[in-house]
Amino acid sequence: MRKPFVAGNWKMNTDSHSGPALAKAVADGSTEWAGSSVTVAVIPPFVYLPPVGQAVSSSGVAVGAQDIYFEEKGAFTGEISPGMLKDVGCTYALCGHSERRHVLGESDEIVNKKVLASIAGGLLPILCVGELLEERDAGQTEQVVERQVKEGLANVTAEKAPAVTIAYEPVWAIGTARTATPEQAQEVHAFIRKLIAQMYGEDLAQEMRLLYGGSVKPGNAAELMGQEDVDGSLVGGASLKADDFLGIIKAAV
Ligand code: 13P
Repeated sequence: MRKPFVAGNWKMNTDSHSGPALAKAVADGSTEWAGSSVTVAVIPPFVYLPPVGQAVSSSGVAVGAQDIYFEEKGAFTGEISPGMLKDVGCTYALCGHSERRHVLGESDEIVNKKVLASIAGGLLPILCVGELLEERDAGQTEQVVERQVKEGLANVTAEKAPAVTIAYEPVWAIGTARTATPEQAQEVHAFIRKLIAQMYGEDLAQEMRLLYGGSVKPGNAAELMGQEDVDGSLVGGASLKADDFLGIIKAAV
């Protein structure tokens, strides 16, 4: 049985007061489940990682980074290394979120380097994949997702692959209130699991957690996560309100 996983990607939101307060409210409200029956992570902006880490330090809530750089140190102005993220208590790192791919121009090759660097640095990568609306409309969803999964996991060995979580986030469903239907989500998740089975074998495919992201709310979370191959949610907007995020965590249990 795969343990459900609910992660809140705060994106470029919160501040030095509201971030730790939100994290504390999530930790306090999820003591019954976080870390035991469901993996819970909050993913604040880099600059708030230390106070957010402190706010959840005695709870079962983990902390993740929204991005990572693939070099350990040196002349890479503005970037943050795996070692730095470990140093401030991160467990997870998002790699290849669609906003980084499509707003900031990250390629599959860069995303792959980030996945490899996360694993090498002792972090657990959450590889984000998902098609644009025009790609879905052109019937290219599987083709796009297959490329992103295969290229994102290039050179990730079977031994290291258990570190990886994959988040399927159709770009047209992000921040749009246009959630994928549970059937649409399940269809792509089943496809991804089949790909993982081809790449790493059936056992690992059954073990790997696949999260859905894109307008997940307390009201649709249970049905989405009730699908056979949907093991949790990567939540954007609704993770900024403790009650909503807690509602999604409860729906995962
Ligand atoms: P929304 O939940 O705001 O649609 O964002 C999803 C997302 O991009 C999470 O990473």
